[in-house]
Amino acid sequence: MSDKHIYILGIESSCDDTSAAVIKDGILLSNITSSQAVHEAYGGVVPELASRAHQQNIVPVIDRALKLAGIGAEQLSAIAFTRGPGLMGSLLVGVSFAKGLAASLGIPLIDVNHLHGHVLAHFIRTEDDNEPCPEYPFLCLLVSGGNSQIVLVKSYKDMEIIGQTIDDAAGEAIDKCSKIMGLGYPGGPIIDRLARKGNPDAFQFAKPQIKGYDYSFSGLKTSFLYSLRDWLKEDEDFINHHMEDLAASLEKTIVDILMKKLYKASKDLKIKQIAVAGGVSANTGLREAFQEYAKRYGWKIFIPKFSYTTDNAAMVAINGYFKYLDNDFCPISAPAYSRVEV
Ligand code: KG4
Repeated sequence: MSDKHIYILGIESSCDDTSAAVIKDGILLSNITSSQAVHEAYGGVVPELASRAHQQNIVPVIDRALKLAGIGAEQLSAIAFTRGPGLMGSLLVGVSFAKGLAASLGIPLIDVNHLHGHVLAHFIRTEDDNEPCPEYPFLCLLVSGGNSQIVLVKSYKDMEIIGQTIDDAAGEAIDKCSKIMGLGYPGGPIIDRLARKGNPDAFQFAKPQIKGYDYSFSGLKTSFLYSLRDWLKEDEDFINHHMEDLAASLEKTIVDILMKKLYKASKDLKIKQIAVAGGVSANTGLREAFQEYAKRYGWKIFIPKFSYTTDNAAMVAINGYFKYLDNDFCPISAPAYSRVEV
């Protein structure tokens, strides 16, 4: 039996991170994530290996999250889990575990849309963190390995995608360009590190001309590839000679593309509360651009802590908490889904 407090266990397994978190009355008590190094050798996530690793990690990760929170499973009020979108084999591990545990404890299940989770990461609060949360409506730039979207967030459950990539995601473009340069995976953190020492204006790459708030990154990737091919003809060691400038110029191009549309949306909709979420929100150049736009245009910005930028269960648990307060539960028959829009 749970006491008078509301304890939500969040479970995230949509891609290559197995994560579990406990939230008590809206305050985060624990957030444990086990990342899978096995994919590094392949230059990308291998779905079959990801689901196998989730199988190995899920029990110890949940166990540690409960222990760190100082509670037993019998005190849980509900279990929130990422239902999709994501890799089906990965999702199934978390979804099935959540269902089994909820059924054995006789407590409700709460399904969470992974993308809503990223947006709601801005509402994760710990005991000693009283930073203000965004007020509705706000805009959220959701940028990850699989998504590049501008989301109009009207409430915790009412989100509208007003712009999105028509081809590659921003993180995907960074990862692909990093691969072209012969760097490791994921490329984002490597490009970020190199870019700090480079000249962002050293090289120019193609920027898309897309209407509205949509994005496109495949042209940039091609432009990066073709430019490098030409430069390598002149100097076969071109990449090594210009590694930092290439990274800085690539980062600047991507940040400029992202910020231009976000600014347009903010101006058109007259919304000045602007958040950023997803793996790419860890990027230093993007964070600096947010600070600069805040100063220049009076934006109130929300930048997540590094631990909440990548996939984590705290964002699932906080979403679960809001749904719990609304008695918004899901049946045990609810299937995982691999693709969906917010
Ligand atoms: O949200 P996320 O963890 O999961 C997926 O969408 O899979 O995002 C991962 C993406 C990768 O493309 C990775 O290269 C990128 O986020 N990323 C970064 C940085 N850290 C991670 N991109 C740029 N700068 C970073 N510091």
